[in-house]
Amino acid sequence: MPLSNRSHRSTLTQFLIEKRRRFPSASGDFNALILDVALACKAIARGVAFGELGGMMGNHATEAGASVNVQGEVQKKLDVLSNDVFIRRTEWAGNLAGMASEEMDLPYQIPGQYPRGKYLLVFDPLDGSSNIDVNVSVGSIFSILCANREVEDTGRDVTEADFLQVGSKQVAAGYALYGPTTMLVLTVGDGVSGFTLDPSLGEFMLTHPQMQIPADTQEFAINASNSRFWEAPVKRYVEECLAGKTGPRAKDFNTRWIASMVAEAHRILMRGGVFLYPRDTKDADKPGRLRLLYEANPVGMIMEQAGGRASTGYQPMLDVQPTSLHQRIGLVFGSKNEVERIERYHAEPVQIELSNPLFAVRSLFRD
Ligand code: AHG
Ligand code: MN
Ligand code: MN
Repeated sequence: MPLSNRSHRSTLTQFLIEKRRRFPSASGDFNALILDVALACKAIARGVAFGELGGMMGNHATEAGASVNVQGEVQKKLDVLSNDVFIRRTEWAGNLAGMASEEMDLPYQIPGQYPRGKYLLVFDPLDGSSNIDVNVSVGSIFSILCANREVEDTGRDVTEADFLQVGSKQVAAGYALYGPTTMLVLTVGDGVSGFTLDPSLGEFMLTHPQMQIPADTQEFAINASNSRFWEAPVKRYVEECLAGKTGPRAKDFNTRWIASMVAEAHRILMRGGVFLYPRDTKDADKPGRLRLLYEANPVGMIMEQAGGRASTGYQPMLDVQPTSLHQRIGLVFGSKNEVERIERYHAEPVQIELSNPLFAVRSLFRD
């Protein structure tokens, strides 16, 4: 690629410094933290890219057998490695009061040899890890919160309660996508910016300024194998989409399912769409599949900052008061008009079983 095509683009560092100039009192801690997170993502991108050659495929094994995280899910080697990379790249600089991750039962305490800072980092180090062994896109997703502590209190250990903040209080959120190209997508609360990793420079370059999600779409993403467990509003929504041109929506829809929420979020940011992993009745102990603090909230902030919307179906995602670190939740996000429609269906009285043709939207018993 000609040099001239690259040199006009901002690097992530330049982008952050230019933003900070508008806040002369800012300490620079935040920018330093984002750059450390970006470095962690670059390291994970390399690990993912080496695949079998790097010995990184398969499950993480301990002497006791395959390891299992707090969610009860078998950990892949890359889940464990990525978690470690996030910690090592960010713990040392004095920007963080603590961290929490999908792969750690308890909050991570910054080791005593390092200063403690004013932010909390919450992350899913490798999202979509069932895709690793089959060479399909995976990602990392993170949320940054204020630690909200007085200066005299900065030495104390973090507790679960420190992390239980509503999503609207996030200072920043972002994800890295390890696909055909590696991208970092970031919001610091004034829009969403996308950066592509230039592999020869090792720099994230601003390639997608001010990302915006189209308000309407004809594409939806849901794992249909769970359909028998869906609640009535979700069944209604999907059945109406599937009915296509001749149904109540009067247009044909397309479906996608990557099984990596980060990759789905990226597709939706680029061309619109709606993603649902709703609350369902599959397992009474799990009100949804995805995790509030390090999946739903960061993706929610990114969606809203790009003009989209994120919801539980019943309320805006960013208004949910978390009750535990690894809490699961029903998640719907994407094109605004579509998410609002799904919210309307949840707000309306329970529908009669729609798959029964006698009670379908247009039938003998309904007009
Ligand atoms: P993780 O790999 O971090 O556990 O997350 C996987 C998540 C999410 O990314 C994806 O949308 C969903 O799980 C896929 O679930 P199914 O296997 O039920 O399709
Ligand atoms: Mn995940
Ligand atoms: Mn994960």
